[in-house]
Amino acid sequence: CLQNADKFLQRSVGTNVVAAQFEATRKEESDEKNGRKSLYALQEERQEQAERSVLISCQSTTNEKKFLKYLSKHGDINKYFFYQSYGLYAVVEFTNRESIASLLEAVAIPSISHESVVPFKSRLLSLRNLGSAESPNQLSGKPCQPQTTILINELIQRLSREESIDQQMTSLTEAYQLTEENSRLRFLVCSLLKDIAAAYFPECTIKPFGSSVNGFGKLGCDLDMFLDLDGISGWNVKIPKSGMSLEYHMKRANSERAVTQSILSVVGECVDQFGPGCVGVQKILNARCPLVRFAHQPSGFQCDLTANNRVAMKSTELLYLYGELDPRVRCLVFTVRCWARAHGITSSIPGAWITNFSLTVMVLFFLQRRNPRIIPTLDHLRDLAGPADKSMIEGNDCTFVSDFSKIQVQSNKETLEQLLSGFFEFYATFPFSRMSINIRKGKEQNKPETTPLHIQNPFETSLNVSKNVNATQLERFVALCQESSWLLQQSDTNTPRGGSGGDTVTTWGLATLLLPSQVAGIKGRKRKRREPASDRIKSLLESLKNKS
Ligand code: CTP
Ligand code: MG
Repeated sequence: CLQNADKFLQRSVGTNVVAAQFEATRKEESDEKNGRKSLYALQEERQEQAERSVLISCQSTTNEKKFLKYLSKHGDINKYFFYQSYGLYAVVEFTNRESIASLLEAVAIPSISHESVVPFKSRLLSLRNLGSAESPNQLSGKPCQPQTTILINELIQRLSREESIDQQMTSLTEAYQLTEENSRLRFLVCSLLKDIAAAYFPECTIKPFGSSVNGFGKLGCDLDMFLDLDGISGWNVKIPKSGMSLEYHMKRANSERAVTQSILSVVGECVDQFGPGCVGVQKILNARCPLVRFAHQPSGFQCDLTANNRVAMKSTELLYLYGELDPRVRCLVFTVRCWARAHGITSSIPGAWITNFSLTVMVLFFLQRRNPRIIPTLDHLRDLAGPADKSMIEGNDCTFVSDFSKIQVQSNKETLEQLLSGFFEFYATFPFSRMSINIRKGKEQNKPETTPLHIQNPFETSLNVSKNVNATQLERFVALCQESSWLLQQSDTNTPRGGSGGDTVTTWGLATLLLPSQVAGIKGRKRKRREPASDRIKSLLESLKNKS
């Protein structure tokens, strides 16, 4: 499909596209030869692409060929794709930035009768096509790019057709992971948001973090963004020891937190009042990590905008590094996350549930506990760090190696199936009541507090990542681990049934583990009947407290 689309582009947009694509391929090849790309390099590249891109709302009858021809009057198009989200949209990336300026010069401010517009100009545009009736289905070059995952039932069917549990886990990862297009769209939304924040802070950047970039993101996951003011000039200007110098006169506040709150309050207000496509803006400024939450309608992303959140950026980098070290890491994390979601262990609603982040740290810890270890401990990664990797953030040591070639991975040959069974066995019997999960040391530590689940935050070591989790949720997790571990040992479950070619497929292997649980369901129901009202209220209050 993509090849056809590329051929189509070459014909319709001009030969320069061929040269640009050749150049891009050559660069990718050389990156591959030089080893894996660092998250930093990846972010830079995507950010730069996003700045050369526009997001255009189209009509379903848009003629792709004419549309591209119309846009290419402003310069060569490097890449484009269409997707559906409350209508048809196109992401168009020009080869040069100047093309954006040229295009925007020709864009009109809409005049709508009975309504007025906020004349805030952005790179979110709408295509008007008056006076020429197009026949439908004009998107000949390539189909719309999906921006959401397949439904769980469809996934179960697909997995049942695979011939081994290892293949099932790979197939699940392929079906769920972010696509190239979805990743580009995430960076484009950050870039559009940056244009709003730039009204106050022209040198700022807005970077995605969390699952959008750490390698563990699923199509449809939220977009965590971080308003970065560290890169602005002036922080590092040396003040001479003698003689004259100037500094900015600036408003002061009592704490960094107060500054973050006031910046997010103003930027949040701007997003609310002026941000095209941004709806349902909520300012959650009293949270431990203040944020502005909103929906970006044209992309369909639920967005969380934070500021001064450098530690989270570091944990994103760490997770990315672990995911790149061994392909089994991502497959196991995707599988466990999907399994947990299917059983309501995780939820999209904040509360006493285990979060995806906690679950990922649990998988990493398990992989550190294999013999030989599949991934190194964080302390080991810190010991391998060079001077350029040194990072202290608000008194927390966030140093760890960034050069992949310095990390020696041990020769563990376990299959994905063995690791999945191992994961369930490990947590089915883990001494949660006494021990804390610690990926810095790669060994369980005595629990410093009495919360049911203790997972040490890798960088802010006095914090518990899973402080919100209550005893009921932990018990459900353990019961499901026991059940899944048992199921994987049954020949009914672990005998491949795939590849029969018929219409009816028998659920087996990983697919069986995603079906509604018997054990945890019954346990859950029993518990509900036995739990006195006072306990339920206590747990509700706890979850509200954690939420706030
Ligand atoms: N984070 C953290 N400590 C926490 C929670 C989150 O450091 N207690 C950081 C992690 O880097 C995490 C990011 O904030 O990846 C975003 O948090 P969240 O959106 O909750 O998790 P994601 O990893 O993005 O997973 P999801 O797909 O559920 O959004
Ligand atoms: Mg997230």
